[in-house]
Amino acid sequence: MNALLASTPVPRDLPLPLPVPEWLLVVCLVAFFLVHILFVNLMVGGSVLVVIAEWMGLKNKRWDALAHEIAQTVTVNKSLAVVMGIGPLLCINLLYTMQWYSANALTGHAWLLIVPLVIVAFLLTYLHKYTWDKWSSGGRKTLHLLIGITAMLLFFFIPLIFLANVNLMLFPSEWEKVRGFFSSLSIGNVLPRYLHFMAASIAMTGLFLAGWFGRKNADLAHLGDFTRPELRRLFYQVCAYVTLGQFVLGPLLLFTLPPAGITTQVYLIIFSGAAVGLLTLWMLFGELKRDDTRIGSRYGLIVALFSIVVLGMGSGRHVYREAALAGHKAAIKDRTERYAAALAEFNKNLAAAPAPAEQTAEQLFINCAACHAPNVKLVGPPLTEIAQLYAGNPDGIVTWAKAPGKKRPELPQMPPMIHLGEANLRKIAELMLEKGAAAQ
Ligand code: HEC
Repeated sequence: MNALLASTPVPRDLPLPLPVPEWLLVVCLVAFFLVHILFVNLMVGGSVLVVIAEWMGLKNKRWDALAHEIAQTVTVNKSLAVVMGIGPLLCINLLYTMQWYSANALTGHAWLLIVPLVIVAFLLTYLHKYTWDKWSSGGRKTLHLLIGITAMLLFFFIPLIFLANVNLMLFPSEWEKVRGFFSSLSIGNVLPRYLHFMAASIAMTGLFLAGWFGRKNADLAHLGDFTRPELRRLFYQVCAYVTLGQFVLGPLLLFTLPPAGITTQVYLIIFSGAAVGLLTLWMLFGELKRDDTRIGSRYGLIVALFSIVVLGMGSGRHVYREAALAGHKAAIKDRTERYAAALAEFNKNLAAAPAPAEQTAEQLFINCAACHAPNVKLVGPPLTEIAQLYAGNPDGIVTWAKAPGKKRPELPQMPPMIHLGEANLRKIAELMLEKGAAAQ
């Protein structure tokens, strides 16, 4: 561990207590994050399916109608994704202050870019949704599709910035090498992680839409000749085949994870999650084999199983992070303790030190001597001149020295001397007048 930390920046912690017990923040972080990422998944996956369906709709109108219906869900899911993002952000700020802000700072430009990119992406999704009927033919339709594609690409890019950050924060030993967002992409295993996330987005959206269009009171009037069982089957398929792909992407992610946070516990959690995932997949394909009257009857069970998988992956993710950062956290704690000890020692010495001896007028005059000489003009006027101006009036000198004015145009402004204190200034003033008179 020491070898690893040798080149690792280890900041001192802010010795502030957490507002609630740490375990509670961890539970909140994992729970809030999963809710947030669910809606992010539906937003990203939805934007992909909208584009694909709209593109297919260029040939066959029924797909265009379906794309339009999916687009209605994207804007809602996007709002929920943003609102639900606040919780995990606050928790991560508190639990990983040092690592989180370090990663933010190291990817600074891209990190800040999230705000304008999100704004543009959101405006485009609304534009796309509200111009659907108006811009439905010819060149306008192409433009419309392009708007959808642009929004989708932005939705592809924004999570990558987040991902680069949460990934970078896990590997403090790499921080010194990072030069901004793009270089952070080569750290750890950002790309497999990203692919795993994208696939999850599409699979989740498939599962969501199978339920959304498959529900009993769903209004399918705008959906042309699509029937409820047909839609259920279609989105089940999306979910099933993409989830099948996760059995390639998942292991790819797991086996490219830097060993920093790999523990038996991580493997146990992830493999249990994957086992439930396999069961879920088996049930999904089972559903697909059913005829139109019965497809969808196991939807609730499948969603429940999927939730277990997601909870497993989310917990595994957290356990990996804790293990990866254990050394760094310990080093920060150690540095903070050593700092607190040194500070206490310093304060103790300070309290025990004897009070500074009173300074004589001659010693105090050093504060003025650099600029005021007996009878030559240095930076300021000579003492002879001052003695003439303030003869019998040492208090006048004190008043001036506390807040000097601006008198002589050929000379610079005198700095105020108020920090010396009134009593000391008084001593200096008397000596000044004495010296000035003697030099006449
Ligand atoms: C960094 C240089 C500098 C130091 C240090 C400095 N002075 Fe001055 N002092 C000046 C200058 C320059 C002037 C002329 C300012 C003007 O006329 O605008 C001046 C002017 C004065 C005057 C004349 C005021 C008047 O009414 O014309 C007095 C009195 C004086 N200084 C007192 C002090 C005392 C007392 C100290 C030390 C505690 C001190 N100065 C330290 C630069 C300095």
